[in-house]
Amino acid sequence: MSLYRNVIWFLKGIHEYTRTGYEEASKHFVAKDLDVSVVGRTFMVTGANSGIGKATAMAIAKKGGMVHMVCRNKDKAEDARTEIVRESGNTEVYIHIVDMSETQKVWEFAEAFKKQHPSLNVLINNAGCMVHKREVNAEGLEKNFATNTMGVYILTQSLIPLLQNSRDPRVIAVSSGGMLVQKLRDGDVQSKKGYFDGTMIYAQNKRQQVVLTEQWAKANPLIHFSVMHPGWVNTPAVSTSLPQFHQMMGERLRTVEQGADTVLWLAMSRVAVRTPSGQFFQDREPVPAHLPLAWTHSSTEEIQNFMTKLETLAKATQCLVV
Ligand SMILES: NC(=O)c1ccc[n+]([C@@H]2O[C@H](COP(=O)([O-])OP(=O)(O)OC[C@H]3O[C@@H](n4cnc5c(N)ncnc54)[C@H](OP(=O)(O)O)[C@@H]3O)[C@@H](O)[C@H]2O)c1
Repeated sequence: MSLYRNVIWFLKGIHEYTRTGYEEASKHFVAKDLDVSVVGRTFMVTGANSGIGKATAMAIAKKGGMVHMVCRNKDKAEDARTEIVRESGNTEVYIHIVDMSETQKVWEFAEAFKKQHPSLNVLINNAGCMVHKREVNAEGLEKNFATNTMGVYILTQSLIPLLQNSRDPRVIAVSSGGMLVQKLRDGDVQSKKGYFDGTMIYAQNKRQQVVLTEQWAKANPLIHFSVMHPGWVNTPAVSTSLPQFHQMMGERLRTVEQGADTVLWLAMSRVAVRTPSGQFFQDREPVPAHLPLAWTHSSTEEIQNFMTKLETLAKATQCLVV
């Protein structure tokens, strides 16, 4: 089954996730969807110093929005902010240094942000990693899981009250089409069992983001939640974590602006919020979160089991903060 999923997924990727896939899909885009001003609206973008996150922060700043860049590296964050302010002419761009893999630090940041800021209209969970060696954070959580799932869970969960009190609130997760090859492992949320395969753990974390988004949408009707795949994009994450794939794909990889397009459409356009909350998007369209005949659907009980495990792990570290 996993070989079937991987083959189908790769063929789909060659057709849809590449630069030509984007060019084909973009023929159906409505240009005026992104012809909006977001002056007076506040956005938080994690991993905003590089790749898709930086392209997203840049485009929002150009449209007049206030941007909170959440980055782990101060020098890289400051370089990116300087470039964004220079190119956009918008000085309302702020840096927060947070390592999204450090669970307790994420709680501390989110709780402090909530107290210090009157509103947050859009949260973009973009920061992500694919670590190929098993490493754990200060709380003993595996690094891919801590960054891609627990960091996203805590930041979002903690900021929901602030988002709910803001106008037209939205939460977007930058997932990956790679999640299509994974069924949710509800009993083993940190993928502890079996051989350590960073690529598959990353894909499992991205599946977890899709499930989280569906569950948040059900529980929080005042907020518009979405999760998306940016396509295969030429970024440092791909060149360092998947060097052979990066080399093989070369010019076929999308630009960062192409990768950021659907994030921006979900974050800024008026039409995006007319779609039902909780869906998985690719190139400005809701698309199935499962491959045909791939047996990746989970039962209500499996999803509930996953949510309970995540909540328990998160609460264990929250007690240390509040
Ligand atoms: N590129 C693709 O083809 C592709 C495909 C599917 C999904 N995605 C997703 O797109 C998102 C953006 O990735 P990208 O491709 O644009 O790669 P990128 O240019 O390397 O950007 C990743 C960003 O995440 C940050 N980050 C990673 N771990 C972090 C942590 N622990 N705390 C805070 N920030 C952290 C990085 O910071 P540093 O600069 O300090 O490392 C960087 O700013 C990721 O979620 C990725 O999984 C990408």
